[in-house]
Amino acid sequence: MTLKELLSPVKALKTLSFATESLILTWKEIASLFGLNQDIYTNPLHKPLAKPVTAILIGAGHRGNIYADYAFIRPDEVKMVGIADPNAVRNGRFARKHDLPAENRFYNWEDVFKREKFADAVIIATPDNLHFEPCIKALEMGYDVLLEKPAAPTEEQCRIILETAKRTGRIVSVCHVLRYSPYFRQLKQILEAKTIGEIISVQHLEPIEYVHMTHSYVRGNWRNSKTTSPIILAKSCHDTDILRWLINEPAQHVQCFGGLSWFKAANAPEGSTERCIDGCAVEGECPFSALQIYYRDKKRLYVFDLPDDTRKWNKIILRNLKKTNYGKCVYRMDNDQPDHLTVNMQFDKNITASFSMEAFTSYEGRCTRIMGTKGDIVGNMETYTVTDFKTGRETSWSLKTDYHGGGDHRLMQDWVQAVGHQNAQILSSTIDVSVESHLMAFAAEKSRLNKTIEPVILGV
Ligand SMILES: NC(=O)c1ccc[n+]([C@@H]2O[C@H](COP(=O)([O-])OP(=O)(O)OC[C@H]3O[C@@H](n4cnc5c(N)ncnc54)[C@H](O)[C@@H]3O)[C@@H](O)[C@H]2O)c1
Repeated sequence: MTLKELLSPVKALKTLSFATESLILTWKEIASLFGLNQDIYTNPLHKPLAKPVTAILIGAGHRGNIYADYAFIRPDEVKMVGIADPNAVRNGRFARKHDLPAENRFYNWEDVFKREKFADAVIIATPDNLHFEPCIKALEMGYDVLLEKPAAPTEEQCRIILETAKRTGRIVSVCHVLRYSPYFRQLKQILEAKTIGEIISVQHLEPIEYVHMTHSYVRGNWRNSKTTSPIILAKSCHDTDILRWLINEPAQHVQCFGGLSWFKAANAPEGSTERCIDGCAVEGECPFSALQIYYRDKKRLYVFDLPDDTRKWNKIILRNLKKTNYGKCVYRMDNDQPDHLTVNMQFDKNITASFSMEAFTSYEGRCTRIMGTKGDIVGNMETYTVTDFKTGRETSWSLKTDYHGGGDHRLMQDWVQAVGHQNAQILSSTIDVSVESHLMAFAAEKSRLNKTIEPVILGV
């Protein structure tokens, strides 16, 4: 190698990579090494907007506020002009934050649509079972929509949303935020460039983590599939979307096994009580104790709408543990969501994928292995390693050394640009593609319940 070659960044990287077992590089360096675009986010279709898009938030909870906060980062792109939420604390906080007039504050989504259209778009971040009706109403009234996932809890409703979006010509963007994470963005580019050749198969794991599981799917709002949506949709439509996106072929068939094994009455320990604060004899040793999670560890407290003054927190937390589902014993809920399931999928070109969703893990963060004809990728959202079969060269990336977070706001930016320019192609995922990933989830649930192999039938 000449001195000039040695000084060339790419050549130098290649040399270094051969010399070491696995070198951790930044995305810029990896892109340079594999001849990829260094910029994973710039969308050439993004252009300055003549005026900010105006939007109404329906559901000012955890997710709704995250999206609406984008208005503070890019006031030239979006302005929040209305709010609907029955929770007076959230409604008031949001109205103050965004300086909303009284006439633009509503306590139910339905009232927004009793007024003449007064904004360009609505953001729907209500509970799962309150997505469909406001979405259809908004589309019929000419609003564009940012719709939290899942689009709707039933297959029929998802198909109606797709049909209504097409008929009205309006934009609907479903919040597939994982697509905007630097990790999945980079994997997508690496796969598109065929750096590991043709994809043969994928293994994908979604470790929910036991506290998250009990918080959301045993005690919380998503605990019962009949009142919200099946967990394969509620939690894992992100994963069916990511698999479809990375593999870039439609799924043909799915098969699913799994169920609720642990969080049920039969497993309640002797001496346990209705609530963890009722003098439960095993509270001290129970990993799912509400006292431990909320009171001692102060985890996932956003559900309690706590005031800024932290001195008041303990009293309010205890009051909530006495009154709300978050204080109840995990073995005494009306939950029915599976705590483990595994799905086999067959895509076009005979590409196969296996997906597992697991409640009983101490960690979160999806883990993915992608097997290609020239190499493979092993990743866990914080790091990934690409290995080339021929050379044995391993190239790794780590979030810790190359952080570019902010997926939620990047999604918001795409949506605002799509609405502002009335161009759905700006979106990473159009409504057709989003509905496809939901259909994969519905087919998996059907398979789980009926012990069948189910086709994924696309189309309106
Ligand atoms: N994209 C993601 O990664 C992601 C992550 C978590 C949750 N979600 C989804 O986002 C949605 C919201 O979840 P969240 O965690 O923000 O829940 P949340 O409970 O914090 O917020 C929901 C809000 O909707 C309000 N609401 C209830 N009924 C209403 C009505 N009739 N009219 C108007 N508002 C009403 C509630 O008062 C609440 O403030 C859910 O569908 C959830 O599945 C998506």
